[in-house]
Amino acid sequence: SGMLITGVTTLLLSLLVLALAWWASIRGAQMRSSLPPGPTPLGLLGNLLQLEFGGLDRALMKVAQTLSRNWGPIFTVWLGPRPAVVLCGYAALRDALVLQADTFSGRGAMPVFQRFTRGNGIVFSNGPRWRTLRNFALGTLKEFGMGTRSIEEHIMEEAACLLGEFQATNGTPLDPQRLLDNAVSNVICSAVFGKRYGYEDPEFLRLLELFNDNFRIMSSRWGEVYNIFPSLLDWLPGPHHQIFQNFEELRTFISEQIQQHQETRKFGEPHDFIDCFLDQMDKVLAPQDPESHFQEETLVMTTHNLFFGGTETTSTTLLCLTDSCPAQVQAELDAVVGRARAPCLEDRVRLPYTNAVLHEIQRFISVLPLGLPRALTRDTHLRSHFLPKGTMVIPLLVSAHRDPTQFKDPDCFNPTNFLDERGEFQSNEAFMPFAPGKRMCLGAGLARSEIFLFLTAILQKFHLLPVESPSNIDLTPQCTGLGNVPPAFQLRLMAR
Ligand code: HEM
Repeated sequence: SGMLITGVTTLLLSLLVLALAWWASIRGAQMRSSLPPGPTPLGLLGNLLQLEFGGLDRALMKVAQTLSRNWGPIFTVWLGPRPAVVLCGYAALRDALVLQADTFSGRGAMPVFQRFTRGNGIVFSNGPRWRTLRNFALGTLKEFGMGTRSIEEHIMEEAACLLGEFQATNGTPLDPQRLLDNAVSNVICSAVFGKRYGYEDPEFLRLLELFNDNFRIMSSRWGEVYNIFPSLLDWLPGPHHQIFQNFEELRTFISEQIQQHQETRKFGEPHDFIDCFLDQMDKVLAPQDPESHFQEETLVMTTHNLFFGGTETTSTTLLCLTDSCPAQVQAELDAVVGRARAPCLEDRVRLPYTNAVLHEIQRFISVLPLGLPRALTRDTHLRSHFLPKGTMVIPLLVSAHRDPTQFKDPDCFNPTNFLDERGEFQSNEAFMPFAPGKRMCLGAGLARSEIFLFLTAILQKFHLLPVESPSNIDLTPQCTGLGNVPPAFQLRLMAR
């Protein structure tokens, strides 16, 4: 009877697989006929094999260029069983994200986050919850310094601490990543937790290690594949499981911070973002109401969003400082600011070359080359294509940054991409590291202030001497599951 059961089970399983494949092909054919054209998908694998052969990870842009040559700037790729409409090049991105801002303001699913956030927080929520939390966070962070003078002071103080650490290395080689992470993360800490951490604080170091680890795993092939076949990968062993363990540890850390705030706060006298949120929870009539946007779980996720969104992206950008033509930036800093006082935000307009270099770094590395996925909030037409509500959209931000119709020298690191003939700074609509439209990065202003203040502070005081020759430092995309992670490298920092 054991054999009979095995036989029946095998038969049933085979039928199930057949039914699934049949269903997938019917559904796929239906959806294919309505979505913009693209390469023909192969059953449950979609276009993965084609993308794989083209090398999605190493040369994403080459694939996109080949695909858009064949299919136009708006095409569909099947990431496994799910279709996504890709927007390639500046004009397509503008027509969608800017000219139809509301329609393209939904967030597409990313299973690697979904399992943790369950649609909570700012980054992965939609509809009224997203709008409420986003507006609340923007307003509150403004009150605690973002977009006002006091954030500038915070960043400048933190920059001074960072310079102290650099000074202490005395020219011995170091990997600058950890210290940059510390500095950037402390700016968020002071707004969200109301305090900064010492760079040796073990609790702080653990926190940063968790962010770092998750950013790297999510940006690896494992993260990429998890987003495509989450239920399958849940069953397979692999480094991706570490992501969820790290998430839980982060949750515990944030919950403890909230607990400490609960114990010391006074209603109506908030000192930081967490206090404000707790005040808001008290004001809500039925905080247990699952429909309420202000609950402890929402606070945990929102706090996590601000940290995760604000640390790795910014410090990765800063890491490219060796590629930044430091000698010319230093000459401009010496001439305009001198060495006696630290650079401040007001100096930015008087430092066109430096400003161009900072833009060029962000353009060239495209930290989030695929942006974050969007989803359509309603049916729409984009150029000649009909796109139904809910369609997942991949805004290929890196394609705007490499668009030959928008930049003089799109494929090289060249600050004149942001300079006119007279050497004045020249802005460019195709510059979109923070993505345009209603979902634009909530921390864009903060990030730009940090990048300017930290980088100028470092270059004013230090010569950066790569331990390897600079041409050996390869900043081309390592992997594109989420972010563009540059490889680790060592620097000597010598006081000027
Ligand atoms: C160089 C630094 C940064 C880059 C390149 C960057 C880039 C981005 C991008 C491309 C998005 C997706 C926008 C979209 O949906 O299309 C995003 C979203 C977001 N970022 Fe940033 N970001 C940076 C720094 C920050 C900082 C410092 C914070 C923290 C205050 C932050 C918080 C967020 C949040 C909360 C979202 C979600 C917005 C929403 O869904 O409504 N980011 N960021």
